[in-house]
Amino acid sequence: MRSRSIARFSPTGLLTLLLTSAIIGNTLAEPIAIAHRGASGYLPEHTLPAKALAHAQGAHFIEQDVVLSKDGVPVVLHDIHLESTTNVASMFPGRSRDDGHFYAIDFSLTELKQLHAHERRNADGTAVFPNRFPLGPGLSQVPTLLEEIQLIDGLNRTRDHKAGLYIELKGFAFHKAEGQDLAATVLNVLDATGWADRSDAVYLQSFEPDALRYLRSGLGTQLPLIQLIGENDWAEDGEVDFTAMRSEEGLAAVAEYAQGIGPWVMQLYLGRESTGGYRLSDLARRAHEHGLLVHPFTLRADQLPPGLKDFQELHQVLFDRIGVDGVFTDFPDQTIAFLQRKRQ
Ligand code: G3P
Ligand code: CA
Repeated sequence: MRSRSIARFSPTGLLTLLLTSAIIGNTLAEPIAIAHRGASGYLPEHTLPAKALAHAQGAHFIEQDVVLSKDGVPVVLHDIHLESTTNVASMFPGRSRDDGHFYAIDFSLTELKQLHAHERRNADGTAVFPNRFPLGPGLSQVPTLLEEIQLIDGLNRTRDHKAGLYIELKGFAFHKAEGQDLAATVLNVLDATGWADRSDAVYLQSFEPDALRYLRSGLGTQLPLIQLIGENDWAEDGEVDFTAMRSEEGLAAVAEYAQGIGPWVMQLYLGRESTGGYRLSDLARRAHEHGLLVHPFTLRADQLPPGLKDFQELHQVLFDRIGVDGVFTDFPDQTIAFLQRKRQ
């Protein structure tokens, strides 16, 4: 399925894709497992233990969501706010903004390092995923992007497995309004660690087209870029019309600056027919026709889309019926196991 999309890649895009496949030991036909925030089905998201476990489980890529501290240090956090995944409210009472949120960008790295990262909580303190790792007081510190890369570098050296980076810029426009250049700062870290030119092993992703266009045209990176596609009512970063983005015209525009799309799973699998069949969209097929890879998010064994009986069926629908090129998964071991069975 991947070779189908390669056929329409530009020479640069084709080279990128060839190198990407080579570094992770895959052939062109082999799709990838992206550990979503680490092995976050088993350990609190974006903690170094969750990243180490994802590596141990054989994830081809490990995801980093990145925001900046007050002093401009990239840290690995899903939200621009801190209260859902750390003990910031008890450590730093009174440091929230008027909207009640504790913003990472209002805290120095020294302050962020005093926090404990824990399993994701709802506003009422309950666990978002009740059967996952215990909420507890917190498991570890919030890692910097540099620390996480050093961990992956180390494991790539000590283990017989090479994992790549899959970095999302969180709140590009938000950081800009705060006077910070998130994209340039992330590229600086990649440059300092020797990953800046590793088109074979790094993806950059964002919901914001402006962020990706700036990475490509403003900062000149040659790393493969993935345009995430949400829903218009999610109020994701910026004011992006994701419905228009899924049109022919929209996909053609994305293909001008990106190598792939990261759609929400429910934009591909729409549910069941009354007769029992799958209702599938044509988004992946059309994206492939524009030469774009398709990496949907997020596969969760404990939060299946309606109408599917188990995690295996979700994988079958995405890989076997729709033909995606990779998936973001909270359970990398189960995705890797599926892909290995598929190869046999
Ligand atoms: O980046 C892919 C996926 O992670 C997007 O959703 O909200 O989990 O970052 P989110
Ligand atoms: Ca993400």
